[in-house]
Amino acid sequence: MKKEFAVIFDMDGVIFDSERAYIECMEEVADMHGLENMHEVALQCIGRNEQATKQILMEAYGEDFAYDEYRKQSSDIFHSRYDNGRLPLKPYVNDIFEGLEKMGVPIALASSTRKASVIQELSDAGLLHYFDELVCGDMVEKSKPSPDIFLKACEMLGVAPENAYVIEDSYNGIRAAFDAGTHPIMVPDIIAPDDEMRQKAEIILPDLERALEYLKMPVKNETGRLLCSIEAVARECGNVILNADRDTNVIASKEGHANFVTKYDKKVQDILEDKLLKLLPEAVFVGEEGENNEILSSGYAFIVDPIDGTTNFIKDYHASAISIGLLKDGHPFLGVVYNPYLDEMFTAVSGYGSYCNGEKIHVSDKDLSNGIVLFGTAPYYEELSRKSFDVAYDYFKRSMDIRRSGSAALDLCSIAAGRAELYFELILQPWDYAAGFLIVNEAGGKVTTFEGQEVCFDKPCSVLATNGIAGCV
Ligand code: IPD
Ligand code: CA
Ligand code: CA
Repeated sequence: MKKEFAVIFDMDGVIFDSERAYIECMEEVADMHGLENMHEVALQCIGRNEQATKQILMEAYGEDFAYDEYRKQSSDIFHSRYDNGRLPLKPYVNDIFEGLEKMGVPIALASSTRKASVIQELSDAGLLHYFDELVCGDMVEKSKPSPDIFLKACEMLGVAPENAYVIEDSYNGIRAAFDAGTHPIMVPDIIAPDDEMRQKAEIILPDLERALEYLKMPVKNETGRLLCSIEAVARECGNVILNADRDTNVIASKEGHANFVTKYDKKVQDILEDKLLKLLPEAVFVGEEGENNEILSSGYAFIVDPIDGTTNFIKDYHASAISIGLLKDGHPFLGVVYNPYLDEMFTAVSGYGSYCNGEKIHVSDKDLSNGIVLFGTAPYYEELSRKSFDVAYDYFKRSMDIRRSGSAALDLCSIAAGRAELYFELILQPWDYAAGFLIVNEAGGKVTTFEGQEVCFDKPCSVLATNGIAGCV
């Protein structure tokens, strides 16, 4: 089967936490010889081959610099310390290789290190078997930033550069990957990205776990980047929720019975407004805790609930979520619901399916009698509670069981993930369902009003979400 894309890894600083180790050894020898500024000089050698490294050191320390002796001493220290599989791995190395192997993605290595050392280090770490091809420093004439090494890797893998993703930590690696016409993914190691890197890298991600998630996404480039950035904002808000100081958890009642808001609802919404509008400045922003309710029929609109499940949050019941919907021209375009307690990130992009932590999800194929029914009824809509419980009772008699979680967004995600079959609520606000609506739809389910009409996003309405089977009885 023809694979859609391949992934090419740099080795030092991406797979092995070796750049830090190399620099430490270089600094130790520099101290022995009374050489100054070795840290800064060594940073310039990152991602370069032997020849380029020599040139950098000779330029820094003058013509009389005993390069060979210096390299030997630092290399001896390095090997005595890190040989035989003792070289530390970067986080999530095994996860990304296992994940890509499961997906059947061809993998190559493109490292400036010599082939003998590459083979030794990868086999000591038990990783060599993951690679379909190896391109090493002594196999190409020009080292990174020349694109040669990546072009050769693509040729050996039999993929066009535009179908190859390159994972790199170094500036020169990103430059080389960019000039080769591949998709550079920067996972910074020692050096933080600058403007040039932000422009040349398709995306900059904090670690290999996120890189795997990105590679699994059906949509990359602009929309994928936006989705990744929104996920990062949702995770940041999740940390605010998890680390909330409960002693000073100021609860202010809103209108109606048991209608609460905490200072964290406001705090999370402020973060969302600030960060989401930085990602998409042309969008309008509508949040539960804000004043603006205007959703335009053209352009982008974020509709967010900073904490869906506020009563649960107040009670520390561990069932709340951050819900971020993005409409485009009035239609759901992207949805993110993050449950920080379970570290579950539900996502959907219109036309590309729904995912939970990077794995595709689908509604169940069970009918109502074999299904779980979820429902909600906010205590502040007192006039609806009797009818809600009557309907719930009716479903209770016809299904396996019923549940009331306290978060509409998570209920919708449970339908999408096939954990439950039907969810209803007689009135909800757009921020409760803007994200979940798309996540259910993209997972193969169906969302309408309770009466079977189209759900709207500019005013409250009832919601009936099903797997497409459980509703038809
Ligand atoms: C509420 C929750 C709840 C639902 C209510 C919503 P909040 O949102 O989603 O499950 O039954 O109708 O208002 O107030 O916690 O953001
Ligand atoms: Ca809500
Ligand atoms: Ca809320």
